[in-house]
Amino acid sequence: SQVDVDASAYDAGEHESYMRKEMLEQPTTAQAVLRGRLDDRFGTAHLGGLDMDARDLRAVRRVKVLGCGSAYYVGQMGAGLIEELARIPADAEAASEFRYRDPVIEPDTLYVAVSQSGETIDTLLAVQEVRRKGGRCVGLVNVVGSAIARECDGGIYLHAGPEVAVASTKALTNMFLGFALLALQLGRVRDLSIADGRRLVAGLERLPAQIEEVLAGEDDLVEVARGLAEARSLFFIGRVRGFPVAREGAQKFKEISYCHAEAYQTSELKHGPLALIDPDVPTVAVVPHDELTERNVAALHEIAARQGPLVVVTHEEVDLGEVGARRIVVPRNEPELDPILLTIPLQLLAYHAAQHLGHDIDKPRNLAKSVTVE
Ligand code: AGP
Repeated sequence: SQVDVDASAYDAGEHESYMRKEMLEQPTTAQAVLRGRLDDRFGTAHLGGLDMDARDLRAVRRVKVLGCGSAYYVGQMGAGLIEELARIPADAEAASEFRYRDPVIEPDTLYVAVSQSGETIDTLLAVQEVRRKGGRCVGLVNVVGSAIARECDGGIYLHAGPEVAVASTKALTNMFLGFALLALQLGRVRDLSIADGRRLVAGLERLPAQIEEVLAGEDDLVEVARGLAEARSLFFIGRVRGFPVAREGAQKFKEISYCHAEAYQTSELKHGPLALIDPDVPTVAVVPHDELTERNVAALHEIAARQGPLVVVTHEEVDLGEVGARRIVVPRNEPELDPILLTIPLQLLAYHAAQHLGHDIDKPRNLAKSVTVE
């Protein structure tokens, strides 16, 4: 069974939907999760609610992130951040699968449950599985005092405010930022240099204004979104940091537009899905300016050669050559923090596609805000 959020205390105001209101709130809500937690001087983060001192943090040998749906995809971005900044092996797993495989719980693994509502039954049961077997589980949760927040050993509240639309936006952005804070703190008690720590603190401080800049480009995306809405099927592709971005982009698109959207690693295209590319199957590609740009662009050529329509979310510096793609340019931050800026246009594309199709954006069919019973 499922529950809907009581929206009575939180009005969509002049906005045509909660999703739109919540997307546009992101520059402000992003500030809220960072407030009071960044330390410019030592290039680190302070996370009192974690209830872990430097010795506890240093004892962590592995990180396992548990969440469902979009929280799982952002969890994958978060695991990547932790592995990059703290050099601790980290991965994310669908919380809905976790308990069914009788997982081995290790005392030096830090489990991180991530949930907007804090009431998702699969995530709650995963937390209980960890704790029953003696593991430590912290939460990245938005709703204060929710079941998952209470069940965890400590955590980071996301301070995104109430989120009503079924398609999550501002809470996901704050999950990413919560992971960045955690990765920074885990990194700084290990080998992450003070210079890198300060670089990331400065990057995090710049992010809210850059999110605003991406949102300000909304009007330019409306036509692109309408074009995508006409497709029977779409691909979203990305690599390494860009892959969870593609997964989240596909998730948002299918949730509210009901178009079939599938995420793939760009590197896997030639191992199967390239067979489906033709003029009726558009691809939305995530191509940041990084060490993989050239390989990413080579894959775009493969798609273009098969007349597959292309929309590319990218950075100014990226040269797509002769690929006839519609470019959506986002500002650059530090490479580790770029995934969240690359995600924002994908929210806008999903939103405008669904609006073009005349769907109920806040309450898509068959879905509810939080799934609280198995
Ligand atoms: C997000 O757009 C989805 N509606 C859905 O995947 C959601 O993220 C998932 O059900 C987890 O919810 P939670 O964050 O409240 O645990």
